[in-house]
Amino acid sequence: MNEFWIAPSILSADFARLGEEVDDVLKSGADIVHFDVMDNHYVPNLTIGPLVCEALRKHGVTAPIDVHLMVKPVDRIIPDFAKAGASYITFHPEASEHIDRSLQLVKDSGCKTGLVFNPATPLNYLDHVMDKLDMILLMSVNPGFGGQSFIPYVLDKVRECRRRIDASGRNIRLEIDGGVNARNIREIAAAGCDTFVAGSAVFGAGKAEDPNRYDSIIRALRDELAQ
Ligand code: DX5
Ligand code: ZN
Repeated sequence: MNEFWIAPSILSADFARLGEEVDDVLKSGADIVHFDVMDNHYVPNLTIGPLVCEALRKHGVTAPIDVHLMVKPVDRIIPDFAKAGASYITFHPEASEHIDRSLQLVKDSGCKTGLVFNPATPLNYLDHVMDKLDMILLMSVNPGFGGQSFIPYVLDKVRECRRRIDASGRNIRLEIDGGVNARNIREIAAAGCDTFVAGSAVFGAGKAEDPNRYDSIIRALRDELAQ
């Protein structure tokens, strides 16, 4: 099992002060920055693109950036994100016409790969491509917005996915995204996840003027994982 990673989703950050927000969560112990890209086509919301990823790198962010593409088509934007400094690039298989080609494109661009499954998307998209994956991201909400509630049936999917990863013998991260907080993170870890996206739980914590406001929430998430 991999070490646990906390991945704050900047979707819930203060975009007017994004660089500082990212610095603050990293200073507070976050492991990786989750970067939600929405196109108002594949999902009903519109967010940020490669320019913002590049701006974070220029600002001095050296932590891995985990780009979650909620866009269709996916291929056009992959090289742009690689150039902008993405570390992982994950996409939804049903948003790609040619899943193998898109995964290969991510690899050839020098980034780590991942497939993302919506709550009701079946895991059989994994059948032929486990060898090409560095990460599997299971959505525990329908994609498009932060602040939604965790969908409990996804826990069965986490267990099934953990079995598939273990059977493959490969080192593939298993990430969960949506409605994660200090009350449910332990159960999600017990089901088999090692990487935890948390948007509103992290960025909604504490008072805006307190520079250490993310310390206690990230510590609380880690304490739960240490139980
Ligand atoms: C939803 C995004 C998530 C979102 C999670 O489509 O992929 O990363 O920011 O937000 P919370 O943790 O608030 O559910
Ligand atoms: Zn996400």
